[in-house]
Amino acid sequence: MSGASGFVDAGEPTAPVARAVPAPVAPVIELDDVWKTYRSGELAVDALRGISLVVGGGEYVAVMGPSGSGKSTLMHILGCLDVPTSGSYRLAGEAVDRMDEQELAHVRNRRIGFVFQQFNLLPSLSALDNVALPLAYAGVERSQRTGRARASLERVGLGDRLVHRPGELSGGQQQRVAVARALVTEPDLILADEPTGNLDSTSAEDVMDLLGEVHESGRTVVLITHDHGVGAAAERTVHLLDGQLSVAGAGANEPSSEGPLR
Ligand SMILES: Nc1ncnc2c1ncn2[C@@H]1O[C@H](COP(=O)(O)OP(=O)(O)OP(=O)(O)O)[C@@H](O)[C@H]1O
Ligand SMILES: [Mg+2]
Repeated sequence: MSGASGFVDAGEPTAPVARAVPAPVAPVIELDDVWKTYRSGELAVDALRGISLVVGGGEYVAVMGPSGSGKSTLMHILGCLDVPTSGSYRLAGEAVDRMDEQELAHVRNRRIGFVFQQFNLLPSLSALDNVALPLAYAGVERSQRTGRARASLERVGLGDRLVHRPGELSGGQQQRVAVARALVTEPDLILADEPTGNLDSTSAEDVMDLLGEVHESGRTVVLITHDHGVGAAAERTVHLLDGQLSVAGAGANEPSSEGPLR
């Protein structure tokens, strides 16, 4: 044999051995020198200026920064709602930076669970149907959708609110429904944008506890906030200022070595 596979060293015994070390898993987020320039007429605003960030599987990262620093812009790119002007973005190993709108929509549905400040639930649908909706978009059979949506709502402590509509739920409960909806497709990434921005302090604490549990269960969570108290819940924080990540300490923009799956 010519050894074309490159895996077998001719000098070694070829008996199968148990694999002690799992194959390395691609990071969930790999941003490399990402720029985003907004143009209107003559005017150009560089909202992101060379962002490089790696987030490993199972990490819980907060992106913090003052108003105008580029948080929403970065969130739109991380969430595949927009593409960079230049630079590369790989999500779970897949290059998404040059995808068209249809491909991005597919990636969003398959790989990302969103939690927004405004909850973004459909007011005419029950909690159960709101949570089941991403499964319908993903082409999951109707017979499975209800069971999975119910399990997801039970997981966030709302098993007794399945038929309630958003208007019949408290703000904290609505955000829990949104977390259940984010989890139901078992996405690679949970992206939370100011998830407590519309909540009183008690409900905010509940939702942050829930996101903590989501992280503990092995999910990758990226939290975007201007609130230091909220950001403190994450195991790693990166700071945005004028479209750039500031290096708060050596390796601040690299994955933590203490993530549960590393
Ligand atoms: N669509 C747009 N067209 C032109 N400029 C924009 C656009 N969106 C954002 N910007 C500019 O890009 C910069 C970053 O805006 P961005 O909304 O990302 O900030 P932010 O950190 O989310 O702020 P906030 O905390 O106030 O929500 C700002 O200078 C803003 O004026
Ligand atoms: Mg914003």
